[in-house]
Amino acid sequence: MFKWAWRQKNEAEREIFSPNNRIKCVFNLKNSQVFYRVYKNDKLIIKPSRLGFVVCGETPLKDQLSLVRTTTKKHNETIELLWGEDHLIPNNYSESAFFLAESKNSRRLYTIRFRVFDNGVAFRYEIPPQPKFQRITIADELTEFNLDLNTTAWKIPAYQPDRYEYSYEKSAVYDLRRPVHTPLTLRTPNGYYLSIHEASLYNYGAMTIQLNQNQVLQSDITPLSDGTRAHVDLPFQTPWRLIMIADSAIELTTNRLIYALNDPPSADFSWVKPLKFIGIWWAMYVGEWTWAPGERHGATTEHAKEYIDSATRLGISGLLIEGWNDGWEGDWLKNGIHNNFTNSTPDFDFPAVARYATAHNIELVGHHETVGFIDNYEAQIESAYNYYASNNVHYIKTGYAGSMMTINGRREYHHSQLGVLHYQKTIELAAKKHICLDIHEPIKGTGIERTWPNLLSREGARGQEYEGGTLSPSHACFLPYTRLLAGGMDYTNGIFDLDNNAKRINTTLARQIAYFITIYSGMAMAADRPFIYEERFPQVFDFIRTVPIDFERTLPLAGEVGEYYIVARQARGSQDWYIGGVADEYGRRATISLDFLPDGAYYAKIYSDTPESHYRDNPFAISISEKHVGKNDLLDIFIAPGGGFAIQLRKINP
Ligand code: NOJ
Ligand code: CA
Repeated sequence: MFKWAWRQKNEAEREIFSPNNRIKCVFNLKNSQVFYRVYKNDKLIIKPSRLGFVVCGETPLKDQLSLVRTTTKKHNETIELLWGEDHLIPNNYSESAFFLAESKNSRRLYTIRFRVFDNGVAFRYEIPPQPKFQRITIADELTEFNLDLNTTAWKIPAYQPDRYEYSYEKSAVYDLRRPVHTPLTLRTPNGYYLSIHEASLYNYGAMTIQLNQNQVLQSDITPLSDGTRAHVDLPFQTPWRLIMIADSAIELTTNRLIYALNDPPSADFSWVKPLKFIGIWWAMYVGEWTWAPGERHGATTEHAKEYIDSATRLGISGLLIEGWNDGWEGDWLKNGIHNNFTNSTPDFDFPAVARYATAHNIELVGHHETVGFIDNYEAQIESAYNYYASNNVHYIKTGYAGSMMTINGRREYHHSQLGVLHYQKTIELAAKKHICLDIHEPIKGTGIERTWPNLLSREGARGQEYEGGTLSPSHACFLPYTRLLAGGMDYTNGIFDLDNNAKRINTTLARQIAYFITIYSGMAMAADRPFIYEERFPQVFDFIRTVPIDFERTLPLAGEVGEYYIVARQARGSQDWYIGGVADEYGRRATISLDFLPDGAYYAKIYSDTPESHYRDNPFAISISEKHVGKNDLLDIFIAPGGGFAIQLRKINP
């Protein structure tokens, strides 16, 4: 029997203000039910929204609640990321935690903790251990985000065979009748830009969002094959439900609250180094080589050594090799259950290639394509990682092609609790072996790479593998405002062979190098075959060789969702800056003020489209120019339809 130590309240209202007082979140207990609402500059942007849970076998944890205790605190801190788009990130917020108890039913307890920042609101549920519950099964989460139905939404659908790999569509909240993924980016009728997402996703299904029967957006936690959402031991806390808030689309792009809402690393990760790499990869996409063994097999000892020599000549430190292992024969998407992660194909002498790479100072990026057969992968994972580690391989690209995962013999969603647990297992095991990961077909980013910096990159959106017909020029103009709010992405940049018959690319040449600035990745691939770089465009490749993969600071300059994006970044540990921009099929003219530069002279090298460039019929036209500039200068840049530009600003006599 419980004795309440605190005075209970069935009605209560508490305001929480952001440090600059512009954002206000109101917690409200009314008729024994919990609600919150959010204001920016006194304008209501999230209307009263219900909170709560349904626990299996019990009545929903949403009614007959009373407030038994409230704690508040202010937090003021600057956090440091080991690598990334920004070195230092503010973590300043006002926090209130509301301790709730049921006045009837089982007298269950839980807490809702809110953090209100100058650029967003986050909250999570915390369920302490309690007499009747040590382990619970969550049947549903009832979190609402009550937005005006005319709010614009940029969405990709959830629960689809290609996971997160879809084109963004502009829609309205009233149209979100089917679940969509987060980050879900929105523009309210009064002009604010929001993105609903989550931070610190562990041991729980990912949150998707859809309208409920009351026409209110509600969390829809990815179900398991048994129909429930998650089985958890107590104490348990959900991921943070996060609402990023900005005055403009471009301001939204540098919202880094996902990192503020994750823990610092718990071990020494100073061994982690971002990596630029080429790969035995695009040759398979254009049909020159194959993943499977045979006459045109890509991953042979000979090709690998040639690519290592190319990487050395190109000044790139890493090489990915796909198709090196047993299991690619036939229809690999169907046969993936036979993938073996320690046996090489007969024409690939892995230890010899690894020795050759080490002798030439090239980091190999190993490859594990699981095709979602998790039971098969987990049975081999320890020996597979040991095999790479013992051959001096410190990077692995993993892949989870296939519409579902097979876990414990059952079909599960990649973004279900069991999927989340699997990805986490790979990250923690890799950390133990000092291996960095680039996960394709991943779970979406929720900032956990702050805690696990060996998770250098993910895919998790439509990437350039979809070029050749299904990528529009606007796609890469959506990413900074949507997917990239979840962290870096391996978009496989730098395809220069634009008019290849097998895979025609919908961009100009300048745009392919712009991607190295506009789409951040801790593992950045120069994805084309090396002979294209060396023989056809060595001068353009200079940009890829020199562009940093770790930045001190990122300054978003201009843009609109799906239309264009221009960003400046300062290299980590340097006074040099880089600017990149991309535009949709209409192109743009950009006047860039360099007033963000410190005093002093800079040497600018500008790679841009020409007035004649066009992604469709003149993609190769490029202008490369050089000049001295300073903070009082303006740069006038032409971005062609489907085009882009990249600028290197080197400090003179730093
Ligand atoms: C999908 C990945 O995104 C791609 O990069 C990879 O080449 C294939 N899977 C095969 O593993
Ligand atoms: Ca993919």
